[in-house]
Amino acid sequence: MERLQGRVAVITGVASGIGLALARRCAREGMKLVLADIEPAPLAAACDELRAAGADAVAERTDVADAASVEALADAAYRRFGAVHLLCNNAGVSAAALRTPAWETRLEDWHWTLGVNLMGVVHGIRTFVPRMLAGGDEGHVVNTASVAGLLTGSGPYFASKHGVVCVSEGLYKDLRLAGAKVAASVLCPGVIRTAILDAERNRPADAGAPTDWAGLSDAAREWVQRFRAELEAGWAPATVADAVVDAVRSDRFYIVPAQERYLGLLRLRLEDLRALRNPTLPPVG
Ligand SMILES: NC(=O)c1ccc[n+]([C@@H]2O[C@H](COP(=O)([O-])OP(=O)(O)OC[C@H]3O[C@@H](n4cnc5c(N)ncnc54)[C@H](O)[C@@H]3O)[C@@H](O)[C@H]2O)c1
Repeated sequence: MERLQGRVAVITGVASGIGLALARRCAREGMKLVLADIEPAPLAAACDELRAAGADAVAERTDVADAASVEALADAAYRRFGAVHLLCNNAGVSAAALRTPAWETRLEDWHWTLGVNLMGVVHGIRTFVPRMLAGGDEGHVVNTASVAGLLTGSGPYFASKHGVVCVSEGLYKDLRLAGAKVAASVLCPGVIRTAILDAERNRPADAGAPTDWAGLSDAAREWVQRFRAELEAGWAPATVADAVVDAVRSDRFYIVPAQERYLGLLRLRLEDLRALRNPTLPPVG
């Protein structure tokens, strides 16, 4: 989709990090914006900021894990603008114990993470794609996964992101086979400076108690501390937004703005698969 000016973008998880950078970039392209997030105050602040910069923007509080909430978002978008051209299924969470092995991970963390990260994308596709196809315009769906969706780990964050890569690749093929004017991409960022490690701020009451740090193993706690430092030194979210707009314009499926270290691990995994040998263990540290 070459022309973005005057077209409508819906972005979930827009109140912070990558979503906010995407909204700012889309606003600079002259797009109309439908802003969706679960956190009301930062969502309102994002909407105010974008309107002050001249964007035609509307905010809708949305829980992407809830199909009815995503339906309400689509209703609001079509009521306001009559069309949707770019859908960014971007909202995502991670329990603080991001790298805890599967056998130590609470069931609540599995349900919460898969509910937001994977089912949020599924709800976006089920709700918006039929309307986008029926509208007859060209369009593009960008699903935010992660390099975690191309590498492996036994916990829910990795599993949810693998699900997003799989569903997105299938969506790409299904849309192409149907001759649709709507395209699809998957976004797999590396380490980006955002608030993702504080995602527990959005853990709903029915997703269990917040992570009990004292209950984690020393190894799990140290891993999170190291990752927090890596995240603080990570790339700016605007870098990701630029990569997304380029990919939408040039119809590129894989968007992988990731550090060389992660691309190296990906190459290693692909070599393991090609040779059908056992997975190479990651370097320690
Ligand atoms: N930061 C990274 O290094 C990184 C790397 C790869 C992928 N990602 C992915 O990028 C996406 C954006 O995350 P981020 O890094 O900008 O983190 P962030 O925490 O800064 O932003 C995530 C946003 O999603 C919102 N959100 C959380 N639960 C929601 C729900 N149920 N419904 C609607 N909105 C909800 C939050 O309120 C927040 O505004 C996520 O899918 C994340 O997994 C991040």
